[in-house]
Amino acid sequence: MLADKDRIFTNVYGFQDWGLKAAQERGDWDNTKKLIEMGQDSIIEEIKSSGLRGRGGAGFPTGMKWSFMPKESKDGRPSFLVINADESEPGSCKDREIIRHDPHKLIEGALVAGFAMRARAAYIYIRGEYIREAETLQKAIDEAYDAGLIGKNASGSGYDFDVFMHRGAGAYICGEETAMIESLEGKKGQPRLKPPFPAGAGLYGCPTTVNNVESIAVVPTILRRGGAWFASFGRENNHGTKLFQISGHVEKPCVVEESMSIPFRELIDKHAGGIRGGWDNLLAVIPGGSSVPLVPAAEIMDAPMDFDGLKELGSGLGTAAIIVMDKSTDIVRAISRISYFYKHESCGQCTPCREGTGWMWRVMERLRHGESSPAEIDMLYQVTKQVEGHTICALGDAAAWPIQGLLKHFRPELERRIEEREAALQEAAE
Ligand code: NAI
Ligand code: SF4
Repeated sequence: MLADKDRIFTNVYGFQDWGLKAAQERGDWDNTKKLIEMGQDSIIEEIKSSGLRGRGGAGFPTGMKWSFMPKESKDGRPSFLVINADESEPGSCKDREIIRHDPHKLIEGALVAGFAMRARAAYIYIRGEYIREAETLQKAIDEAYDAGLIGKNASGSGYDFDVFMHRGAGAYICGEETAMIESLEGKKGQPRLKPPFPAGAGLYGCPTTVNNVESIAVVPTILRRGGAWFASFGRENNHGTKLFQISGHVEKPCVVEESMSIPFRELIDKHAGGIRGGWDNLLAVIPGGSSVPLVPAAEIMDAPMDFDGLKELGSGLGTAAIIVMDKSTDIVRAISRISYFYKHESCGQCTPCREGTGWMWRVMERLRHGESSPAEIDMLYQVTKQVEGHTICALGDAAAWPIQGLLKHFRPELERRIEEREAALQEAAE
C-alpha cells in the first residue's frame, strides 16, 4: 500500500483548504523558479525518466509528447498547452477531485510543463457540468496571478506565462483532443483527422500539446522528488502513483491514490471495503472507464492494475475508473446503456460511427429482451468490427469494445435470454 509520505495528492479528500496559502503549506509553489531554472530539456528528460504515461486514458508517454514540440518558433507562431479537464468518461471522476481540492497543483504544473514545451499560455478546458469546480479553478488562477506566480515574469523566473480557463458546454466528444481544439477556436467540437498531430498543427494552427489534468498536476512533485522516485512505483513500463476511481458495488466507493500495478483485490479490500456481499458476489469489472471491455470476476482478481496488466486481459487501464458490478447486475442492460451513451455522444461526422453506434445500441436492446436470434449475436460482433478502427476518432472504438467484451465473456447469457423468450412464445401459442 502506498505510504502517506509518497502521496502526491495530499488534499484529495478536501480535509484542508484548497486556497493558495494552504497549498503553499502543503509544498505547492515552493521555489517554482528553481524548477524552471532546470531548463526546458532537463525538465523533459526528468519527466521521461519518471516513466509518466498520460493519465487521460491513452497512456502515451508524457515526456515524449512534450519533446514533439518545436524548440524554435516558426514564423513567430506561439506554442500552447491545452489541459483536458473535460472529464466525461462514465466512471471517471479524478480530475474533478484535483480541481476541487488541489487546484494549485494543476496551475503550478501548467506553468512548469508549459515552460518545458516553450508554450506561451495554457488553456484549461473544463467540462460544462463542473460548475463549482470551474468557480474554484478560476479563483485559484486569480490567486496565482495576484501572487505573481503566473503571468508576466511568472514566479520570478523571467518567463511570461498565462493560464486561461474555458468552460465546455456538455458534449463528451469535446474531450477528444482535436475536438477540444476546435471548440476552443469557437467552432463545433468535432475531431480532426490525425496526423497532423496537435504538436504540428494544433490550436489556431500553432504547435500544441494536450495533456490530462492528472498528468500535469503530478509534474511539480516529480521534479521536486526526482523522476527516479516516481519511477520506483509500479513496474516496468507502468510507473508512478495513480488516482484510482472505484465505483459501483463496493462497500465504500472512493477516489484513492495508489501505486500503479497494485493487484485488483488488494486495491478494493484496502480502500473500498471489499465487494458488496463478499468476493463470491463479484460478477465483472470495467477497469478503465466505460470505453474498455469488461473483465469477468475470475480473471481480474489478481490482475495488476496497470496498462500492460489489463491489456493482457483484453481490456485497458484507461483513466483507472473502476466500475464494479456484482451478481445483481443485469450485465446486458448495463452494456446496452453504455451503447446508448456512445450513440448519443457520437458527433455524426463519420458514417461507421454515426450509423454503427445506433445499430449496435438497437441490437443490444433487442438482445436485452431476448427479442433476437443467435445469428444476430454474430452479426452484432461483425458490426463492432466494422466500426472499430474505421473512424476518425476513438469514440467508434470506445463504442465497439464494451460490446465485444460482453460477447466474449457473456454470450451464454445472451443465448439464454433468446431461448427463454422463444420458449415463452411457444408456450403462449400452444
Ligand atoms: P491516442 O492514442 O490517439 O493519442 C494519445 C495522445 O498521444 C494524443 O495526445 C496524441 O496526440 C498523442 N500521439 C499519439 N501518437 C502520436 C504520434 N505519432 N505523434 C505525436 N503525438 C501522438 O488516444 P486519444 O484519442 O487521445 O485518447 C483515447 C483515450 O481517451 C481512450 O483510451 C479513453 O480511455 C480516453 N478517454 C478519456 C476520457 C476522460 O474523460 N478522461 C473521455 C473519453 C476517452
Ligand atoms: Fe465523430 Fe464518431 Fe467519427 Fe469520432 S468516430 S469523429 S465521434 S462520428
